[in-house]
Amino acid sequence: MKKRKIWIDCDPGIDDAFAISLAAACQDQLEILGISTVAGNQSIERVTENARKLTAFLGIPQVPVAQGSACPLVREMISAAHVHGSTGLGDCSLPETEKKVVSENGILYLAKALLSLPEGEQATLVPIGPLTNIALLFRTFPEVREKIEGICLMGGAAVGGNVTATGEFNIWEDPEAAQVVFSSGIPLVMCGLDVTGRCGLNREHAKQLLESKSPVQKALGEMVSFYLKSPAYQNKSQAAIHDAVTITYLLHPEWFEGRAIHVEVDCSEGKNRGMTVCDFRTSAEGDYPVTVLLDVEAERVQEFWMEKLTGTRW
Ligand code: RIB
Ligand code: CA
Repeated sequence: MKKRKIWIDCDPGIDDAFAISLAAACQDQLEILGISTVAGNQSIERVTENARKLTAFLGIPQVPVAQGSACPLVREMISAAHVHGSTGLGDCSLPETEKKVVSENGILYLAKALLSLPEGEQATLVPIGPLTNIALLFRTFPEVREKIEGICLMGGAAVGGNVTATGEFNIWEDPEAAQVVFSSGIPLVMCGLDVTGRCGLNREHAKQLLESKSPVQKALGEMVSFYLKSPAYQNKSQAAIHDAVTITYLLHPEWFEGRAIHVEVDCSEGKNRGMTVCDFRTSAEGDYPVTVLLDVEAERVQEFWMEKLTGTRW
C-alpha cells in the first residue's frame, strides 16, 4: 500500500512527543518527510532541541528537523511551560545526539520540501502546535497549495477550551495564523478538544511504559507520569494526549465522526480570543473544506496507542 507522506509542525511538548513516536511506529503506512518546530509549549530553542533529540532517540535520524517561528504573527509569545515542564518534555531528558537541525529557516525548508515532491505527489500537513509556520508558508509560498493533499491539525474545539472557556492553546496562542489556515480552502480536519480531550493514557499505562526495558517506552512513561502528576490531570483518571489524535485519525478515520461546517477564528482581544466558531447552521454537507471531529471511539484509540508504543522494537 502506498505510504501517506506527512510533514509534522510541532512544539514538543509531551503530547507532541507521543504524536511523533506514534508516527515513527507506523512508518509502514506513513512517510515522515520532515518536522518543523514552532514556539508554543516552550521557547523555539527548547522545542527545536526536543525535536532534534526525539528523531534520533526514536530511530528516525534521517527525518530532517527545521526550526520555525519563535513567536506568533502579531501577539506576544505565551508558553505552556507550566503544563510541559522546564524541558518541555516533563522532567524527561533525552540522550545527546550528533543529529543536527537543518541550517535553513524552517518555513523555507518546508516550502522547498513540498515543491520538490515529484509531479502528482502530495503531502499531508500535520500541525500540532500554534499555526504560525503554516500561515507564513501559505502567505509566502502560495504555490505550495497544489502539493498539499490536506491538513490534519490538533487545535480548537466546537465546545470549550483549555486556556480559557473558549480558547484551545494552539489556536489561542496565534489566532491570526489560525484564521489564515482555516480560511485557506485546503481540506482540513480539525482534531479539537471535543475528541482529543477524550483520548488519553492512565496511570496503568504509565506504569507499563515505565517498567519496560525499552528506553523509548521508559521515556514516554516518564512524560505521561509527569502529565498525570500535574495540576491539570492529578485529579483525573487519564491525561489527554491531544496531538497523537492527528496521527491516529490519518491511520484510522473510521474511529471518528465529524461534520464539514464553516469555522471562523475569533481574533478579538475579548474573552473569546482564539475560539473556533463552528457554525452548525450550515446545511450543505461537504460544501465546507473544514471537517470538525465530534466523536471518537476513545477506547480503540487508547488500545492502538499502547499496541504501537509497546509493540515497536525501539
Ligand atoms: O491544547 C493542546 C495543544 O496545546 C497540544 O498541541 C499541546 O502540545 C499544546 O501545544
Ligand atoms: Ca503541541
